[in-house]
Amino acid sequence: MQRRKALRLLISSPLLLPATRAFSFQPSEEAARKPTTIGWITDLHHGYCPDALDRLKVFIGEASRRKVDFILQGGDFCHPKPEAAELMQVWNHYQGDKYHVLGNHDMDFGTKRDIMNVWGMERPYYAFERGGFHFIVMDCNHILKDGQYIDYVKGNFYIDPARRDLVNPEQVEWLEAEIDRAKHPCIIISHQSFDEVWTGSTVPNRLEVRKVIDRANEGRKHPKVIACICGHHHLDHHMMINRVHYIHINSASYFYVGDGFGSDGSRATYSEPVFAFVTLDPAGEIRIEGRQASFRSPTPKEKGFPNADRITASIIDRRLGTA
Ligand SMILES: [Fe+2]
Ligand SMILES: [Fe+2]
Repeated sequence: MQRRKALRLLISSPLLLPATRAFSFQPSEEAARKPTTIGWITDLHHGYCPDALDRLKVFIGEASRRKVDFILQGGDFCHPKPEAAELMQVWNHYQGDKYHVLGNHDMDFGTKRDIMNVWGMERPYYAFERGGFHFIVMDCNHILKDGQYIDYVKGNFYIDPARRDLVNPEQVEWLEAEIDRAKHPCIIISHQSFDEVWTGSTVPNRLEVRKVIDRANEGRKHPKVIACICGHHHLDHHMMINRVHYIHINSASYFYVGDGFGSDGSRATYSEPVFAFVTLDPAGEIRIEGRQASFRSPTPKEKGFPNADRITASIIDRRLGTA
């Protein structure tokens, strides 16, 4: 009886709750030496949110202070306009490796090449190795028109949701080959998500991507693809599908609530800049250290936004997949 009581007490202790013991991954030898930390900011929306520049300054200051392994912006960053120069100056102030992901709004006023030139990004989708992990950055910014996959350009993507935010077939093939040739555990990074969220608007052909991932992991003791991380939906969210973590990093700036519900027009703006430090630990754990903020007043709840309980102005701390 005593033992059962002690066990019950132990299980109910909040101290034991944070880690999700869902999978373990086999780190490569290089990764086994030290954790890799990424400074992660997404959906800043410079050119739409008036204080985006100040938000980025806070992120760059914090990432520089922590001496992370690299920083990454997950799309919806800025527009290829002269105003972007001030933002790029702050971004480039970071002394270390920097990576970009294409988001839909980055092509509101130009081509992919236009914004890639502003950023100094060579290819719309690419892969790189770092700290014993294989990072695969994808581009989901294609519309399907007359049977052809066409790049986003000058806001041509405000169409039927089923025909936008697509991964083109060549890229699905490339993804399969890239995972196959990877020597290390893979992290897939995209702007739009490949999982399922209540807002919808995930990648319409996400099952093609998930099929590639699941096939690569099938029959393995430790999955080869360990996580997919995205932005775009402005949510703080995590779900597990077939041993793979699907993680949403919340926007640095706001949630779009629409007319009549926002503190700033149709935006429910976050009181502070929101971003995360994502650590891949060779011990078999993904740690997310997020920034907590609140909604500016009047908040979505005060305004009666129907989904007020499902949105947050924060990224919570998570410990995922302890081995
Ligand atoms: Fe966004
Ligand atoms: Fe987006």
